Amino acid sequence: MKLPNLANARKRTKNPVEVITDNYKLTNDMKKLGLNRAYYIKTYGCQMNEHDTEKIKAILEDMNFYEVDKMEEADLILLNTCAIRENAHNKVFGMIGRIKHLKESKPHLIAGICGCMAQEEVVVDEILTKYKWLDIVFGTHNIHNLPNILATSLAKKELEIEVLSVEGDVYENIPVKRDNLYKAWINVMYGCDKFCTYCIVPYTRGKQRSRQPEFIVEEVQTLVNEGYQEITLLGQNVNAYGKDLDIDYRMENLLEDVAKTGINRIRFVTSHPWDFTDKMIEVIKNNDNIMPYIHLPIQSGSNKILKLMGRRYTKESYFELYNKIKDAIPNVSITTDIIVGFPGETEEDFNETLDIVNKCQFDSAFTFIFSKRVGTPAAKMTDNVSLETKNKRLQELNKLVNKYSNLANQKYLNKTVPVLLEGFSEKNKKTLFGYTDTMKLVNVEADESNIGKIVDVKITEVKTWSLDGKICE
Ligand code: SAH
Ligand code: SF4
Ligand code: F3S
Repeated sequence: MKLPNLANARKRTKNPVEVITDNYKLTNDMKKLGLNRAYYIKTYGCQMNEHDTEKIKAILEDMNFYEVDKMEEADLILLNTCAIRENAHNKVFGMIGRIKHLKESKPHLIAGICGCMAQEEVVVDEILTKYKWLDIVFGTHNIHNLPNILATSLAKKELEIEVLSVEGDVYENIPVKRDNLYKAWINVMYGCDKFCTYCIVPYTRGKQRSRQPEFIVEEVQTLVNEGYQEITLLGQNVNAYGKDLDIDYRMENLLEDVAKTGINRIRFVTSHPWDFTDKMIEVIKNNDNIMPYIHLPIQSGSNKILKLMGRRYTKESYFELYNKIKDAIPNVSITTDIIVGFPGETEEDFNETLDIVNKCQFDSAFTFIFSKRVGTPAAKMTDNVSLETKNKRLQELNKLVNKYSNLANQKYLNKTVPVLLEGFSEKNKKTLFGYTDTMKLVNVEADESNIGKIVDVKITEVKTWSLDGKICE
């Protein structure tokens, strides 16, 4: 039993990061654990979390479990959780209640929690007092050890918790079962050292650890050979890639080397404005296979709030960077994240946020109400904005954001754009859906044989959230 510890999760040292390539090993007994057992896994978090799920699936299948898509049919249920906001927590605890119900009628059912919530001391304390009937809890630093954790829990027939509150290492040997045949996620770095005052990620994911470039490029090359069309380089703060390596190699170098593999589409998330260099902009501009799409979270338009958030830029410097990117990269689409109701946010501060949205006219924005996360500095700030005001501000902001999303989409009418078609549209099984280079969702009347291809599509109708188009013959 290893329990998370907030004080340790907060620590940052200069201890070197180990690159571990050889510790994922399964014994024959572990390979038998999953025989005739079905698993169901639900993912709650960001792309990083989704990609972790792809690793967990591969590990479970190495143990001979097989996947089902109905929780009721599973012998093993895992919830890969997210801790970013309170509502993510609530959803998971609701689900745990449903699982308890299932377990009452199916005593052999194995149930577990993993991901960012498992890294939280308060959550594990709650599990130990209220949900001791769960079988396994493991964190973001010990996915590779899942076979051992499962074997231990099954042998002891009791709750096994293994959550390491450590800065973390880089594991290069974990298998992955990719969900998509055409698009793939690739970790380029783990963890985060930015410690924005509202954010829990630096505590749940450890310190910033960049992967060695050769492992990343090799992974991309393999995907190219397998026929993948698109890769997304993942990190909490990808622009800081390489800063922690002892070689002179940064995000712009990585982007250039990844571009040379010939993969058709390269994306990367998330960019923190602080580390966005001119060289990076140059490289994006000069390589056709690096997509003209950038997610650049601003969080607030008020310098006072940005300072309280610990974001290290001002509204003015953000706008300057924004314009530099827009001027350099033709057709670039820029999206953002915004938090409303941060402690101390006045009407004036909120108006500053509306003002920067009006200036930038983002292609789209993810908007959130500030959520207090235990252990973060912002949780100790006086939250003096009422829930009613937060809701009002969110609605007003969303209205503005949607106006500009619609405006951005209008520019696509009658234009011909490249779309990677991924599959049948959910709403209408006769159309296919896909994304433009600029990350616009497009529904296309096209034959099934186009799935997995990048095709030219003429946009015939524009909506706020999507575009409709016809394939150009
Ligand atoms: N690494 C990314 C953010 C990852 S979290 C970055 O720095 O941009 C995704 C988004 O969730 C953040 O951009 C922020 O807008 C939002 N978020 C994070 N913590 C939050 C909190 N405590 N309350 C509300 N929103 C939060
Ligand atoms: Fe969180 Fe800030 Fe790190 Fe993003 S950069 S993950 S918001 S601490
Ligand atoms: Fe959530 Fe963890 Fe991602 S908190 S947003 S799953 S890094």
